[in-house]
Amino acid sequence: MERPIVMSTIKRAPRELGPTGRPFPRLAEPRHVDRHGPARVIALCNQKGGVGKTTTTINLGAALADFGRRVLLVDFDPQGALSVGLGVNPMELDRTIYNALMERKVTVDDVLLKTNLPGMDLVPSNIDLSAAEVQLVGEVAREQTLKRILEPVLGDYDVVLIDCQPSLGLLTINALTASHGVIVPLECEFFALRGVALLIQTIDKVKERLNPQLELEGILATMYDGRTLHGREVLARVVEAFGDKVFHTVVNRTVRFPETTVAGEPITTFAPSSAGADAYRDLAREVVARCLAG
Ligand SMILES: Nc1ncnc2c1ncn2[C@@H]1O[C@H](COP(=O)(O)OP(=O)(O)OP(=O)(O)O)[C@@H](O)[C@H]1O
Ligand SMILES: [Mg+2]
Repeated sequence: MERPIVMSTIKRAPRELGPTGRPFPRLAEPRHVDRHGPARVIALCNQKGGVGKTTTTINLGAALADFGRRVLLVDFDPQGALSVGLGVNPMELDRTIYNALMERKVTVDDVLLKTNLPGMDLVPSNIDLSAAEVQLVGEVAREQTLKRILEPVLGDYDVVLIDCQPSLGLLTINALTASHGVIVPLECEFFALRGVALLIQTIDKVKERLNPQLELEGILATMYDGRTLHGREVLARVVEAFGDKVFHTVVNRTVRFPETTVAGEPITTFAPSSAGADAYRDLAREVVARCLAG
Protein backbone atom coordinates (compact mmCIF):
# COMPACT_ATOMS: atom_id res chain seq x y z
CA MET A 1 0.00 0.00 0.00
CA GLU A 2 1.26 3.41 -0.88
CA ARG A 3 2.14 5.59 2.03
CA PRO A 4 0.28 8.86 2.13
CA ILE A 5 2.38 11.90 1.43
CA VAL A 6 2.53 14.05 4.50
CA MET A 7 2.72 17.71 3.67
CA SER A 8 4.77 19.46 6.28
CA THR A 9 4.07 23.10 6.96
CA ILE A 10 6.65 25.40 8.44
CA LYS A 11 5.13 26.92 11.53
CA ARG A 12 6.15 30.50 12.14
CA ALA A 13 5.00 32.35 15.21
CA PRO A 14 2.70 35.05 13.86
CA ARG A 15 4.01 38.58 14.42
CA GLU A 16 1.83 40.10 17.09
CA LEU A 17 -0.37 42.93 15.86
CA GLY A 18 0.11 46.15 17.81
CA PRO A 19 -2.71 48.48 18.83
CA THR A 20 -2.32 50.41 15.57
CA GLY A 21 -3.34 47.27 13.66
CA ARG A 22 0.14 46.73 12.20
CA PRO A 23 2.69 44.09 13.28
CA PHE A 24 4.64 45.53 16.19
CA PRO A 25 8.32 45.71 15.19
CA ARG A 26 10.87 43.90 17.31
CA LEU A 27 13.35 46.65 17.99
CA ALA A 28 16.55 45.81 19.81
CA GLU A 29 17.89 47.80 22.73
CA PRO A 30 19.65 50.79 21.13
CA ARG A 31 23.40 50.35 21.20
CA HIS A 32 25.28 52.68 23.50
CA VAL A 33 27.29 55.40 21.80
CA ASP A 34 30.81 56.50 22.72
CA ARG A 35 30.67 59.87 21.07
CA HIS A 36 27.93 62.42 21.41
CA GLY A 37 26.38 65.05 19.21
CA PRO A 38 25.54 66.86 17.11
CA ALA A 39 21.99 66.69 18.39
CA ARG A 40 18.84 66.05 16.43
CA VAL A 41 16.36 68.68 17.57
CA ILE A 42 12.76 67.49 17.89
CA ALA A 43 9.76 69.67 18.80
CA LEU A 44 6.80 68.15 20.62
CA CYS A 45 3.98 70.10 19.12
CA ASN A 46 0.18 70.28 19.06
CA GLN A 47 -1.80 73.48 19.55
CA LYS A 48 -4.47 71.45 21.34
CA GLY A 49 -3.98 71.55 25.10
CA GLY A 50 -3.53 68.56 27.38
CA VAL A 51 -2.63 65.95 24.75
CA GLY A 52 0.60 64.69 26.36
CA LYS A 53 3.31 66.99 24.95
CA THR A 54 4.98 67.63 28.29
CA THR A 55 4.53 64.06 29.55
CA THR A 56 6.10 62.77 26.34
CA THR A 57 9.00 65.25 26.51
CA ILE A 58 9.92 64.16 30.04
CA ASN A 59 9.47 60.43 29.60
CA LEU A 60 10.86 60.05 26.09
CA GLY A 61 13.83 62.14 27.24
CA ALA A 62 14.34 59.97 30.32
CA ALA A 63 14.08 56.73 28.30
CA LEU A 64 16.61 58.04 25.74
CA ALA A 65 18.97 59.03 28.56
CA ASP A 66 18.61 55.49 29.99
CA PHE A 67 19.72 54.21 26.60
CA GLY A 68 22.91 56.26 26.94
CA ARG A 69 21.90 59.25 24.82
CA ARG A 70 22.75 62.76 26.00
CA VAL A 71 19.45 64.63 26.18
CA LEU A 72 18.55 68.30 26.55
CA LEU A 73 14.95 69.13 27.38
CA VAL A 74 13.81 72.66 26.52
CA ASP A 75 10.78 74.02 28.34
CA PHE A 76 9.26 76.35 25.78
CA ASP A 77 5.93 76.90 27.50
CA PRO A 78 5.46 79.86 29.88
CA GLN A 79 3.39 77.52 32.11
CA GLY A 80 6.68 75.80 33.02
CA ALA A 81 5.00 72.37 33.30
CA LEU A 82 8.10 70.55 32.04
CA SER A 83 10.21 72.22 34.71
CA VAL A 84 7.64 71.38 37.41
CA GLY A 85 7.44 67.79 36.15
CA LEU A 86 11.17 67.49 36.83
CA GLY A 87 10.89 68.83 40.36
CA VAL A 88 11.95 72.42 39.61
CA ASN A 89 9.94 75.35 40.95
CA PRO A 90 10.18 77.73 38.00
CA MET A 91 8.96 80.75 39.96
CA GLU A 92 12.07 80.59 42.13
CA LEU A 93 14.47 80.82 39.19
CA ASP A 94 16.29 84.08 38.50
CA ARG A 95 17.15 83.14 34.96
CA THR A 96 15.32 80.97 32.48
CA ILE A 97 15.17 80.47 28.74
CA TYR A 98 13.57 83.91 28.57
CA ASN A 99 16.89 85.52 29.55
CA ALA A 100 18.83 83.46 27.01
CA LEU A 101 16.36 84.53 24.31
CA MET A 102 16.25 88.21 25.13
CA GLU A 103 19.64 89.11 26.66
CA ARG A 104 22.70 88.97 24.42
CA LYS A 105 25.09 88.14 27.27
CA VAL A 106 23.11 85.20 28.65
CA THR A 107 23.73 81.82 27.00
CA VAL A 108 21.76 78.57 27.18
CA ASP A 109 24.64 77.14 29.24
CA ASP A 110 24.08 79.91 31.80
CA VAL A 111 20.46 78.88 32.41
CA LEU A 112 20.51 75.11 32.04
CA LEU A 113 20.04 72.81 35.00
CA LYS A 114 21.18 69.24 35.60
CA THR A 115 18.30 66.85 36.32
CA ASN A 116 18.50 63.88 38.70
CA LEU A 117 18.93 61.65 35.69
CA PRO A 118 22.51 61.26 34.43
CA GLY A 119 22.76 62.51 30.86
CA MET A 120 19.60 64.63 30.91
CA ASP A 121 19.66 68.43 31.30
CA LEU A 122 16.85 70.97 31.37
CA VAL A 123 16.49 74.52 30.08
CA PRO A 124 13.70 75.76 32.36
CA SER A 125 11.04 78.34 31.70
CA ASN A 126 8.46 80.29 33.63
CA ILE A 127 5.82 82.92 33.04
CA ASP A 128 8.49 85.43 31.91
CA LEU A 129 8.52 83.60 28.58
CA SER A 130 5.05 84.91 27.78
CA ALA A 131 6.60 88.39 27.46
CA ALA A 132 9.06 87.07 24.86
CA GLU A 133 6.20 86.30 22.51
CA VAL A 134 5.41 90.03 22.39
CA GLN A 135 8.99 91.32 22.59
CA LEU A 136 10.29 89.07 19.83
CA VAL A 137 7.87 90.59 17.33
CA GLY A 138 10.13 93.65 17.03
CA GLU A 139 13.38 91.66 16.64
CA VAL A 140 15.32 91.01 13.45
CA ALA A 141 14.95 87.34 12.39
CA ARG A 142 12.42 86.90 15.17
CA GLU A 143 11.55 83.33 14.10
CA GLN A 144 15.20 82.21 14.34
CA THR A 145 15.92 83.32 17.89
CA LEU A 146 15.61 79.90 19.56
CA LYS A 147 17.64 78.26 16.76
CA ARG A 148 20.41 80.84 17.24
CA ILE A 149 20.69 80.37 21.00
CA LEU A 150 20.56 76.54 20.85
CA GLU A 151 23.25 76.22 18.18
CA PRO A 152 26.27 76.51 20.53
CA VAL A 153 25.13 73.55 22.70
CA LEU A 154 24.04 71.11 19.98
CA GLY A 155 27.47 69.46 19.94
CA ASP A 156 27.05 68.37 23.59
CA TYR A 157 23.85 66.35 23.07
CA ASP A 158 22.43 63.56 20.92
CA VAL A 159 18.89 64.83 21.09
CA VAL A 160 17.15 68.05 22.08
CA LEU A 161 13.42 67.84 22.84
CA ILE A 162 11.44 71.09 22.81
CA ASP A 163 8.17 71.09 24.75
CA CYS A 164 5.90 73.59 22.95
CA GLN A 165 3.00 75.52 24.40
CA PRO A 166 -0.51 74.78 23.10
CA SER A 167 -0.62 77.48 20.41
CA LEU A 168 0.73 78.15 16.94
CA GLY A 169 2.12 81.58 17.87
CA LEU A 170 5.62 82.98 17.49
CA LEU A 171 7.14 80.77 20.23
CA THR A 172 5.96 77.61 18.47
CA ILE A 173 7.18 78.96 15.11
CA ASN A 174 10.58 79.49 16.80
CA ALA A 175 10.53 75.87 18.04
CA LEU A 176 9.69 74.56 14.54
CA THR A 177 12.38 76.74 12.98
CA ALA A 178 14.97 75.40 15.44
CA SER A 179 14.02 71.73 14.86
CA HIS A 180 14.95 68.94 12.50
CA GLY A 181 11.74 67.09 13.25
CA VAL A 182 8.34 67.28 14.93
CA ILE A 183 6.53 64.67 17.00
CA VAL A 184 2.79 65.32 17.31
CA PRO A 185 1.12 63.72 20.32
CA LEU A 186 -2.60 63.08 19.73
CA GLU A 187 -5.04 62.23 22.50
CA CYS A 188 -7.22 59.28 21.48
CA GLU A 189 -10.59 60.95 21.88
CA PHE A 190 -13.32 62.17 19.58
CA PHE A 191 -11.86 65.57 18.66
CA ALA A 192 -8.28 64.31 18.31
CA LEU A 193 -8.01 65.13 14.61
CA ARG A 194 -9.66 68.50 14.85
CA GLY A 195 -7.02 71.16 14.28
CA VAL A 196 -4.38 68.70 13.05
CA ALA A 197 -4.81 69.90 9.46
CA LEU A 198 -3.92 73.43 10.60
CA LEU A 199 -0.90 72.08 12.47
CA ILE A 200 0.32 70.17 9.39
CA GLN A 201 -0.21 73.32 7.27
CA THR A 202 1.87 75.32 9.74
CA ILE A 203 4.65 72.71 9.68
CA ASP A 204 4.60 72.82 5.85
CA LYS A 205 4.77 76.63 5.82
CA VAL A 206 7.72 76.68 8.22
CA LYS A 207 9.44 74.05 6.07
CA GLU A 208 8.86 76.10 2.93
CA ARG A 209 9.77 79.52 4.25
CA LEU A 210 12.07 79.14 7.24
CA ASN A 211 13.44 75.64 7.73
CA PRO A 212 13.69 73.30 4.69
CA GLN A 213 15.07 70.43 6.81
CA LEU A 214 11.94 70.18 8.99
CA GLU A 215 10.26 66.74 8.95
CA LEU A 216 7.23 65.22 10.59
CA GLU A 217 8.93 62.46 12.60
CA GLY A 218 5.73 60.85 13.73
CA ILE A 219 2.30 60.96 15.31
CA LEU A 220 2.07 59.53 18.82
CA ALA A 221 -1.29 58.27 20.05
CA THR A 222 -1.64 59.03 23.77
CA MET A 223 -4.23 58.43 26.50
CA TYR A 224 -5.48 55.36 24.66
CA ASP A 225 -8.09 53.07 26.15
CA GLY A 226 -8.16 49.91 24.06
CA ARG A 227 -11.02 48.46 26.16
CA THR A 228 -13.50 50.89 24.61
CA LEU A 229 -14.78 50.72 21.07
CA HIS A 230 -14.49 54.50 20.95
CA GLY A 231 -10.76 54.41 21.74
CA ARG A 232 -10.15 51.73 19.09
CA GLU A 233 -12.16 53.65 16.50
CA VAL A 234 -10.29 56.90 17.10
CA LEU A 235 -6.93 55.12 16.80
CA ALA A 236 -8.07 53.42 13.57
CA ARG A 237 -8.99 56.85 12.13
CA VAL A 238 -5.61 58.27 13.12
CA VAL A 239 -3.85 55.37 11.35
CA GLU A 240 -6.14 55.82 8.33
CA ALA A 241 -5.19 59.50 8.16
CA PHE A 242 -1.43 59.22 8.78
CA GLY A 243 -0.44 55.65 7.90
CA ASP A 244 3.18 54.83 8.64
CA LYS A 245 3.77 58.19 10.28
CA VAL A 246 1.93 56.85 13.33
CA PHE A 247 4.33 55.38 15.87
CA HIS A 248 3.70 51.69 16.62
CA THR A 249 3.94 52.60 20.28
CA VAL A 250 0.70 53.81 21.79
CA VAL A 251 0.57 55.27 25.30
CA ASN A 252 -2.37 54.02 27.38
CA ARG A 253 -4.41 56.23 29.65
CA THR A 254 -3.29 55.66 33.23
CA VAL A 255 -3.36 57.61 36.45
CA ARG A 256 0.36 56.86 36.90
CA PHE A 257 1.21 59.87 34.69
CA PRO A 258 -0.52 62.55 36.82
CA GLU A 259 1.14 60.86 39.83
CA THR A 260 4.58 61.31 38.30
CA THR A 261 3.94 65.04 37.82
CA VAL A 262 3.23 65.36 41.53
CA ALA A 263 6.38 63.34 42.29
CA GLY A 264 8.41 65.59 39.96
CA GLU A 265 10.15 62.77 38.12
CA PRO A 266 9.83 60.66 34.97
CA ILE A 267 7.73 57.49 35.08
CA THR A 268 10.85 55.50 34.12
CA THR A 269 12.30 56.22 37.58
CA PHE A 270 9.05 56.69 39.56
CA ALA A 271 7.46 53.41 38.43
CA PRO A 272 10.08 51.71 36.26
CA SER A 273 8.15 48.47 35.78
CA SER A 274 4.81 50.12 34.96
CA ALA A 275 3.15 49.79 31.55
CA GLY A 276 3.63 53.55 31.10
CA ALA A 277 7.40 53.27 31.55
CA ASP A 278 7.44 50.33 29.10
CA ALA A 279 5.54 52.41 26.54
CA TYR A 280 8.04 55.28 26.67
CA ARG A 281 10.98 52.85 26.45
CA ASP A 282 9.32 51.36 23.33
CA LEU A 283 8.84 54.85 21.93
CA ALA A 284 12.50 55.66 22.61
CA ARG A 285 13.52 52.52 20.66
CA GLU A 286 11.34 53.65 17.75
CA VAL A 287 12.71 57.18 17.90
CA VAL A 288 16.30 55.92 17.88
CA ALA A 289 15.57 53.64 14.90
CA ARG A 290 13.48 56.16 13.00
CA CYS A 291 14.99 59.55 13.81
CA LEU A 292 18.44 59.09 15.34
CA ALA A 293 19.72 56.55 12.81
CA GLY A 294 20.79 53.76 15.14
N1 LIG B 1 -1.16 58.56 29.04
C1 LIG B 1 -1.74 59.33 29.95
N2 LIG B 1 -2.72 58.82 30.74
C2 LIG B 1 -3.32 59.59 31.67
N3 LIG B 1 -3.02 60.87 31.92
C3 LIG B 1 -2.05 61.42 31.17
C4 LIG B 1 -1.36 60.69 30.15
N4 LIG B 1 -0.45 61.51 29.58
C5 LIG B 1 -0.57 62.70 30.21
N5 LIG B 1 -1.52 62.64 31.17
C6 LIG B 1 -1.96 63.71 32.04
O1 LIG B 1 -2.78 64.60 31.28
C7 LIG B 1 -2.49 65.94 31.62
C8 LIG B 1 -2.01 66.69 30.39
O2 LIG B 1 -0.79 66.09 29.95
P1 LIG B 1 0.43 67.00 29.46
O3 LIG B 1 0.65 68.10 30.43
O4 LIG B 1 1.55 66.10 29.14
O5 LIG B 1 -0.21 67.57 28.14
P2 LIG B 1 0.28 68.85 27.29
O6 LIG B 1 -0.08 68.56 25.88
O7 LIG B 1 1.70 69.16 27.58
O8 LIG B 1 -0.64 69.99 27.89
P3 LIG B 1 -0.52 71.58 27.59
O9 LIG B 1 -1.08 71.75 26.22
O10 LIG B 1 -1.34 72.21 28.65
O11 LIG B 1 0.93 71.93 27.66
C9 LIG B 1 -1.46 65.90 32.74
O12 LIG B 1 -2.14 65.95 33.97
C10 LIG B 1 -0.81 64.54 32.58
O13 LIG B 1 -0.34 64.03 33.80
MG1 LIG C 1 2.57 70.96 28.22
